[in-house]
Amino acid sequence: MPQARPFQNDDRQRVLDASDIVRLVGEHVQLRPKGREFVCVCPFHDDHKPSMYVVPSKQIYHCFSCGAGGNALDFVINYFKMDFREALKFLADRAGVELTPWNPRPDAANAAQGDSESRSTRAQLFDAAAFAHDFFRTILRHAEHGAVARETVQKRAIAPQMVEEFGIGAAPDRWDGLERTIASKNMDPAPFLALGLLKRRERETGMYDALRHRLIFPIHDQIGRVIGFGGRKMRDEDEPKYLNSPESALFDKGKNLYALHLARKAIQDTKTAIITEGYTDVIACHQAGVRNVVATLGTSLTRDHARQLERLCDTVVLLFDADEAGQRAADRAIEIFFNAPIDVKMCVLPGGKDPDELLKQEGGAERFREALAGAMDALDFRFARLRQRAAGEGMSSVAKLVENDAQRLVELGLLNLEPIRKRRVVRRLATIAGVTESDIEQTLRRHASRSASRPARVGENDATDPDAAPTGSARAGLGVIPNGPGEQALGALLADPTLFHDLRDDEVGALEAHRFTHPACAEVAQTLLAMLHAGDDCAATSLLAAMPSANARTGAGELMMRAELPCEGDRARRLKTLRDCLARLDVAAARATATDSNARFQALLEAHARHGRMPTAVPRPASTPP
Ligand code: UTP
Ligand code: MN
Repeated sequence: MPQARPFQNDDRQRVLDASDIVRLVGEHVQLRPKGREFVCVCPFHDDHKPSMYVVPSKQIYHCFSCGAGGNALDFVINYFKMDFREALKFLADRAGVELTPWNPRPDAANAAQGDSESRSTRAQLFDAAAFAHDFFRTILRHAEHGAVARETVQKRAIAPQMVEEFGIGAAPDRWDGLERTIASKNMDPAPFLALGLLKRRERETGMYDALRHRLIFPIHDQIGRVIGFGGRKMRDEDEPKYLNSPESALFDKGKNLYALHLARKAIQDTKTAIITEGYTDVIACHQAGVRNVVATLGTSLTRDHARQLERLCDTVVLLFDADEAGQRAADRAIEIFFNAPIDVKMCVLPGGKDPDELLKQEGGAERFREALAGAMDALDFRFARLRQRAAGEGMSSVAKLVENDAQRLVELGLLNLEPIRKRRVVRRLATIAGVTESDIEQTLRRHASRSASRPARVGENDATDPDAAPTGSARAGLGVIPNGPGEQALGALLADPTLFHDLRDDEVGALEAHRFTHPACAEVAQTLLAMLHAGDDCAATSLLAAMPSANARTGAGELMMRAELPCEGDRARRLKTLRDCLARLDVAAARATATDSNARFQALLEAHARHGRMPTAVPRPASTPP
């Protein structure tokens, strides 16, 4: 049955009407046109070839593999892990739709005391982050309190346009700048405490600012909302060099990339993402017109980071420091991307400079672009490092190095790589070890059988990756959906429920009487027929939402997508297809129900007469009863 609407007003519908799901999804995932639909690698499970469809005519998305699906709101809720209200506001802001004013339950909002930090809603946290951001930007412009920071900006040659785009600000050189401002406006400090921008004094009452006398780089989420701050020291004796606001309900270092909201479009356009290590490197690159640049946030690259970028582009360039720490970080990043269908390149800048330093030099931009163009294949880089380690070693230690590396590569999924990539890796290992490729193959097989029971992966978030959750289990419960006349009829009706009105009672009866062998199809049929009879809203998203189980929802999506969609064929033909399916159901039912062979023959003839045609091969009545 259609679900009850969470709100009385029509905000939901107005927002959906004003949103375009193709544009929305296309901003975060690479879409490829396919007929009148679009396909993409599904962002809701560990997909490798495109399983997700986006259907403009129905404004829905659906993944055949994991069953994820729904309308634009569902996409926003699931992709950005937003709650309904947040998603509604996000889409409304994009589309310029004004929402009905809404106040959260006042009792919950007033309950602030004691551990109230943890009780701040996400909306309150976002508001607090935005407020703090305004405060830091105001300070940067302040004649007295922003003077040192403005000097720093100038010394670092950060252009005014970049200050604006990146929202750079400053924290004043005092303990109570933000704290006083909040108090003077009678604001609740709880969300600021939760974000780590204010801290409680030990053994005393009162609070103080966490970020003081620093140049402030706001950190945004992928849709451009401020979720945290990085603060660069401006006095030599201060420590540490960068002080970042701590992780919070909004800010997760392992999931967010610095400046992704500014770089996303350029990453899609160039099909390439450049990953650096520092805030100032990103800003320098953008200032130099290289816009497809992001950075990790003082943490190593995770699978989550990688996945976000994989959805947007085909190539990733790692632009890490030339020092040993930077190179180790690169090694790790290469492992993170090892199993992904994406080209990874490694760029080392001349003179061991970081992008910020190089770009500030005379002719730096030129050399920077040259270095980017000459970026080396990441696997070449990896094997060059291995080779360096092997150089000058005796035969047995080289063998051991290669052996260990082979094992690591198997753990990373070498054996599941596409044959061409795998072959390249094998060839290189063989060259380094000075053995044949088949020797290496043998080594790999040995490791494969050994590690079969404990598949290793990289990236600290993998173990509890929520993205991966729905896949296996949901799919396993579903199994293969048959493609008989019953299923085809369901699909046709799901794709275009208006066909229902043109059916005769006996045709509807044939569908109602049909016993679906697949449990999900049985659920779909029951739900669909009930809604059609009741005259309910049968828009695709309402139909999917009304399905009583995840399997039924996935099944309905699959059946709908198998059918010819209304946007692609004429209605008369689709109706005829539907009728043919129902006729076949009726005939099959007649055959199955009559026990006596003569009765069966009679029933068959009647069934065929109902559908206005003779069967191609009428079974003859048996001469003797079966
Ligand atoms: P770097 O030390 O390479 O700094 O740290 P940088 O980007 O070149 O910065 P400038 O040019 O000296 O200002 C690289 C990144 O590591 C993180 C920050 O994200 C920084 O941008 N980092 C570094 C920290 O989080 N804390 C630190 O104390 C230092
Ligand atoms: Mn630097």
